[in-house]
Amino acid sequence: MSGYPEVLSIREDFPILKRKIEGHPLVYLDNAATTQKPRQVIDTVRRFYEFHNANIHRGKHTLSEEASELYEDVKKKTASFINAKSWREIVFTRNATEAINLVAYSYGTEFLKEGDEILLTMMEHHANIVPWQMLQEKKGVKLRFINIDSNSLLRMEEFEEKLSERTKLVSVAHVSNVLGTVNPVREIAKMAHRVGALILVDAAQSAPHLPLNVREIDADFMVFSSHKMLEPTGIGVLYGKEEILEKMPPFLRGGDMIKRVKPYKSYFKEVPWKFEAGTPDICGTIGFGAAIDYLKKTGMEKIEAWDRHLVGMAYKLLSEIPALKIIGPEDRVGALSFLLGDLETERIALFLNSYGISIREGCHCAQPLHRSLGLWGTARASFYIYNTEEEVLKLRDALLELAKIEGISE
Ligand SMILES: Cc1ncc(COP(=O)(O)O)c(C=O)c1O
Repeated sequence: MSGYPEVLSIREDFPILKRKIEGHPLVYLDNAATTQKPRQVIDTVRRFYEFHNANIHRGKHTLSEEASELYEDVKKKTASFINAKSWREIVFTRNATEAINLVAYSYGTEFLKEGDEILLTMMEHHANIVPWQMLQEKKGVKLRFINIDSNSLLRMEEFEEKLSERTKLVSVAHVSNVLGTVNPVREIAKMAHRVGALILVDAAQSAPHLPLNVREIDADFMVFSSHKMLEPTGIGVLYGKEEILEKMPPFLRGGDMIKRVKPYKSYFKEVPWKFEAGTPDICGTIGFGAAIDYLKKTGMEKIEAWDRHLVGMAYKLLSEIPALKIIGPEDRVGALSFLLGDLETERIALFLNSYGISIREGCHCAQPLHRSLGLWGTARASFYIYNTEEEVLKLRDALLELAKIEGISE
C-alpha cells in the first residue's frame, strides 16, 4: 500500500473492510451512495444506547439531560465543520433530500409567487429537482436549467443570460454525483446575489470530500447527508443564514418545536428548534458528531488531496482501456462514471462484484443529466479515505479482463 501514509491505520478503523465478497477482499467503491462507518462512530452509537439513552429536551432526569447535551453539542460541531456563524444556523433533518424539501415547502410556499424563477443545473440529483417541481405545480414558479458544456462544466455564460430580477433562488450541486465536476459555487453565489436571489448549495457530494466554508461561499442555504461522511443513515443537515431561517415558517409541526399550544393556536420555538418537530434520530446525530471528529482529526485538506489522487489515478488508468469511455472532466472529486463498449452497466457491476468490487450502475438519481448526454445510465466508481491505489489497480484489471471476455479489448 503506498501514497497515503495513514491509509493502513484508517482501514483498521473500518471493520467491514475485512469482509470477503465472492471469495475476494471487499473493494468498496460505492462511496457516493453511502460510506462505511468507522469503529469510533459505531462505538459512539453503542455507548449511547448502553449509557445515555433517553428522549431529549423533555426530561429533568440525568439521562435526558445527558442525551440533550450530547445531541445539541453536535450542532456546534457541525457549525464549526462548515464555518457557520452560529449553531443556530444548523437544522437536523432526515437527509439532504428532506433539507431541500424543507426549504421548498417553508421558504418556497411562503415567499415565492407565480412568475418567480428558480435556476437549477442539468447536473442536479433528483433531490434538487423534484422538490422545486412542487413549487412549479402549486405556485406557478418557473424552473430554468443551466446546461453543461462538452467538458461537463457548467456553461457559466448561461447564468448571465438566465439570471434576472425574476430569479429568486439558485440551487446548485457543489460537486456532481455523476461527473465529479466541482462547480464554482462562490462565483455562482455572487452572481445570484447581484440580482437579489438566494443560493442553496447542495453539498451532499462535497461535504465528505472538501473543506467547506459557508461564509466564504456566502451560501444562503447548504444541505448535506451525514451517511455519505462516515455516519449512520438518518441525519441530514440544513444550514441556513439565521436571519433567513427566522423569517421562514415551520415545515413539519408537532411536539418539541413549540413553546405553547392552545387548542386553535400554537407558538413556536426559535431557530433551529422550530424546524425540528418530533423525536429526532438522537443516537444517529450523536454518531454524526463522532464522524465529524474523525474527519477533522484526519484533516479535510488531506482527505481532499487523497480523494483527488485516487480519482485522478483511476481517470488515467481507465482512460487507457480502449473501449472505455469516462463521463465528465479529468479535474474532479469523488465519483468516476464510465461506459465499457456498449455493455449494459448492470453487466459491468455484476462482473466487478464477482471480484469483490462494489460499484453502482444506473442513472444515479440524475435522469435529466443522463438524458441530456444521450445516455440511459453509467457505471460509477466512487472513492473515499479508506480506498487504496491497489484497489484502483484491481478495478482497472477487472475491467480489462471484462473487455477481453467481451471481445472489446482492442
Ligand atoms: C448531489 C446529491 N444531492 C442530494 C443527494 C440526496 O442525498 P440523500 O439521499 O441522502 O437525501 C445525493 C445522494 O446521492 C446527492 O449525490
